Parts: sequence; structure tokens; C-alpha cells
Amino acid sequence: MPERAAPSLLFSPLKLREVELPNRVVISPMCQYSAGGGLANDWHFQHLGRFLGAGLVFTEATAVESRGRITHGDLGIWSGDHAKALRRIARCLKDRGAVPGIQLAHAGRKASSRRPWDGGAALDGNDADAGEPPWETVAPSAVPLSDGTTPPRAPDAGEIAAIVDAWGDAARRAHDAGFDVVEIHAAHGYLLHQFLSAVSNRRNDAWGGTLEGRMRFPLQVAERVRRIWPQEKPVFLRLSASDEGDPSWTMDEVIVFVSELQKLGIDVIDCSSGGIGAQGFAIRGRRVAGFQVGLAEQIRRRTGLCTMGVGLITEARQAESILQRGQCDLVAIGREALFDPCWVLHAARELGADPDFRFWPRPYGWWLDYRARTVGPDPDERDR
Ligand SMILES: Cc1cc2nc3c(=O)[nH]c(=O)nc-3n(C[C@H](O)[C@H](O)[C@H](O)COP(=O)(O)O)c2cc1C
Repeated sequence: MPERAAPSLLFSPLKLREVELPNRVVISPMCQYSAGGGLANDWHFQHLGRFLGAGLVFTEATAVESRGRITHGDLGIWSGDHAKALRRIARCLKDRGAVPGIQLAHAGRKASSRRPWDGGAALDGNDADAGEPPWETVAPSAVPLSDGTTPPRAPDAGEIAAIVDAWGDAARRAHDAGFDVVEIHAAHGYLLHQFLSAVSNRRNDAWGGTLEGRMRFPLQVAERVRRIWPQEKPVFLRLSASDEGDPSWTMDEVIVFVSELQKLGIDVIDCSSGGIGAQGFAIRGRRVAGFQVGLAEQIRRRTGLCTMGVGLITEARQAESILQRGQCDLVAIGREALFDPCWVLHAARELGADPDFRFWPRPYGWWLDYRARTVGPDPDERDR
């Protein structure tokens, strides 16, 4: 008798509020730097539509206001036209069996930058000459990201309230566009993380100083998004659960923040790391497989909240065992999905969850199953 594969946890559904993910593989948000004026185009449509089989597919960081974009190429959702351009993507993902998710973001002092492949530095007059002028950035305090660059402007109470409004409006548009999961980007040194960190937040008013003050703005955003986002749909929040550039942001502080988010009804904590300095996402130094999963595990264990692990999760068995060990509830795949857009379908085959190609779209799966059933040694040859 052939050995039956043990049931896969990775390919079991997960219900979050009234939204059921068909499996626990998530495509991590990944900026494409390929939009014009914040509008999604054919590149985003085909890029996101390629990740067949994923339970949940996130758009890249999508700016809640135009000055919140990292680069001129980022997606935005600050108008109805932006939502309209994204609607086609949400519909396509749903048609293919995935839950469509959108990551909402504001880059704060990391806005007005060049694309990573152009060096990622702050835009300047040369970029203006090339048609991509710099713009004024906002951040909790007028502390520039790196020496010699123009400092951001620190908003007053009224302007902070307007930014919270922008998050709420963006969430409303994202729902109208057909997304079923929203993620608040509070990681990687962007605006919400800038408020949380004493490195970038030097305010001595209600939005700075103590942890309570530094958490105020991110919690206001979380509260607003949760209030506007339909009750039956889950809200995720991505945070940097550790940052070597920030000794003040300890796991104990992270847990206090997460406990407040839990009270507000945030459903999943997506655990990343790093970014408060000029470096990009994730803690620097040597990276090993699943290097951030331990952070998700600690948060899950200490708060009981659902967590998502991300970072160098590249193998089907690795992803399965992360879940089997109870380290997190979902795994997110980033670059490995760029390398192999059919990663999820291949993982399902490897784990024995899809022996007859049923997870594949019919126009592919029927042929692959047929090939699998018909290819092999000629029975006459074999018996000889
Ligand atoms: C091209 C690219 C773009 C990214 N853009 C975003 C983003 O928009 N929002 C975000 O939270 N993380 C972003 N990240 C980080 C990924 O979501 C992910 O956390 C990181 O790549 C680690 O996972 P991996 O090892 O599976 O790639 C990006 C990463 C890459 C490679």
C-alpha cells in the first residue's frame, strides 16, 4: 500500500472573522515601483495574478496619501480613481480562489526616495530634471533619515488628525475596491514605526516621550482602520518586532503595543524586523532560514494573538514545520515567490496536499494530471 501523506497544516483553511483563507500561505507585500501617479496598471495586475494557489495575496505597500509614497513608482489609494484601478486586481484574485489583501502604508521620512535599483537615496534636483521631483516629507520629528538630507517636517496635532483621517479614508476605499483583508504597515521604519521608535520620535507632546505617547498615533490609526473596516473582515498589522538600530524597542515594549492592538480588535500580527535607520527592511547581518519566525512565536505565545511569520521561508517542508511547531498561524512568502510564482502549487504537490493537480487552474491542471497519469514506462516494456 502506498504511504499516505499526513494532512498538511499549511494547506488547511484558516477562518479569520468571516473570511476563510483556503490555506495558510500568504504572498507578502512587495513594492514594484512600477506605478505612475500611484495608479495600479497592467504590471500590478499580472504580477499579483501570477501567485496561483496562495490563500491570501497582498498588494504592495499602498500609500494612504500621495506624500506617503516611498518613490514615484509606488501604489496609492488616496482617491476613488486609485481604488478603481485596484478593483480589477481584487476581482482577479478572488476569481482564482485567493483572498485579496491590501497593505496600507505611509512612508513618513522615508518618502521622496529613488527606487532601490537607483540607489534608494533621497530625491534631489537631478531627479527633478528627470521628471521625478522631490516632495516634502512628514515624520514625528524633524530628524532626517541620514545626515545631509532635508529633514522631514513634524506635523502638529491638527495635521496628525488629518493623517489618521487619510488612513480611514484609504481603508474605506480598499473595502469598496473589493479587498477582504487590510494590513496596516507599521514596520520597516515607515511613518507608524517612526512614531513608535525613540530614534525618530523626539516629540515631547502627547505623541512622543513615553511608550504610551509613542504608541498614540499608531493606535489611533489602528483604531480608525478597525472602525471603518467591516467587522466581518480581519485587520492585520505588520510590525518590526526587533531592530538592532533601536535598543529602546524591546520585546517587552512590542508586547505592550500588541496587547493594545489586541484590545482594538486587530486580528493578526505580521512579524518583520528592522528598518528604523537608513537600511531597508529586516534586521541586518547574517540571515538564516526563517530568521524572523522566532519573533512571531514569542508574540503568539505571550499574547495569544494570531501571527504571521515571514523572512527566508523558502521550502514547503520548512513552512509546514513552522506551523506544526505552533510558531505562527500563517507564513508569508516574498522573494521565493518572485523566483517561482507557482511556489504554492509546487509546495502543495510536495506535501501531498494536491495529488491530482486540483489546486491548479483547470486549463493547466487537467493537462498536468493527464501527463502524470499517462507518462511512464510502457507496461509491455516494464513486464518484460
Ligand atoms: C521587492 C520587494 C518589495 C518589498 N516591498 C514591501 C512592501 O511593500 N511592504 C512590506 O511590508 N514589505 C515589503 N518587502 C518585504 C517583504 O514583504 C518580506 O517581508 C521580505 O522580503 C522577507 O521575506 P522573504 O525572505 O520571503 O523575501 C519587500 C521585499 C521585496 C523583496
